[in-house]
Amino acid sequence: EEGLHAPAYPWEHEKLHKTFDHNSLRRGFQVYREVCSSCHSLARIPYRTLVGNIMTNDEAKGLAEENEYDTEPNDEGETEKRPGKLSDYIPSPYKNDEAARAANNGALPPDLSLMVKARHGGCNYIFSLLTGYPEEPPAGAVVQAGLNFNPYFPGTGIAMARVLYDGLVEYDDGTSATTSQMAKDVVEFLNWSAEPEMDQRKRMGWKVMAVGGVLFALSVWVKRYKWSTVK
Ligand code: HEM
Repeated sequence: EEGLHAPAYPWEHEKLHKTFDHNSLRRGFQVYREVCSSCHSLARIPYRTLVGNIMTNDEAKGLAEENEYDTEPNDEGETEKRPGKLSDYIPSPYKNDEAARAANNGALPPDLSLMVKARHGGCNYIFSLLTGYPEEPPAGAVVQAGLNFNPYFPGTGIAMARVLYDGLVEYDDGTSATTSQMAKDVVEFLNWSAEPEMDQRKRMGWKVMAVGGVLFALSVWVKRYKWSTVK
């Protein structure tokens, strides 16, 4: 069964002449860390990729150091614990899928790194999903025990309950953390995690258009020049 079709929101960062809003990315990463990361991994993101667009080098180093990683095994095959480095990846909340399911009533919280690209509807779908839990399921809706009603989720019964509530996080830039603001920020952040090269790609696209445009105009002029003597 199809879920309710998500409305198309006017995402600024999707426009060809716009980039990601880096303040929004920073807030979105905070939402991921404080809310989503207790259940969802972000396994494709090393700390180093956060530097410069979401936080400073020192901030990213500090975050990495909050976690412990195994050292390379020595000759006896033993490992030790060491603090994280910028080259380490953001750790997953669970040891493996079995542990993840055990903690979530049998459901597996998927990795969020590529989620914006993996789901039909992308940003619109995830925003709608996060903000679309009604107080009560509509009259007549059948909701399986352990599931939550969400009209945007295919099948409408989702193992993830509503997680975002007004004021859940405190943003350090003073932005008011409403449910929809947090959803917008975390979705923009998840779009960045799925396509960190997007700003670059758009910039390159404009350069290609500019240089290509000049070369094309030149070729038209040369063609006319060469053929100008032919009647
Ligand atoms: C599924 C996002 C927080 C548990 C999902 C899905 C997304 C998502 C996009 C996939 C839906 C689909 O398959 O189409 C988020 C975001 C969060 C968040 C952005 C933070 C703002 C949490 C938390 C938990 C959780 C805190 C656990 C308490 C789950 C589970 C599923 C899921 C169990 C699988 C649902 C199912 O297949 O029925 N989440 N999530 N999520 N999430 Fe979350």
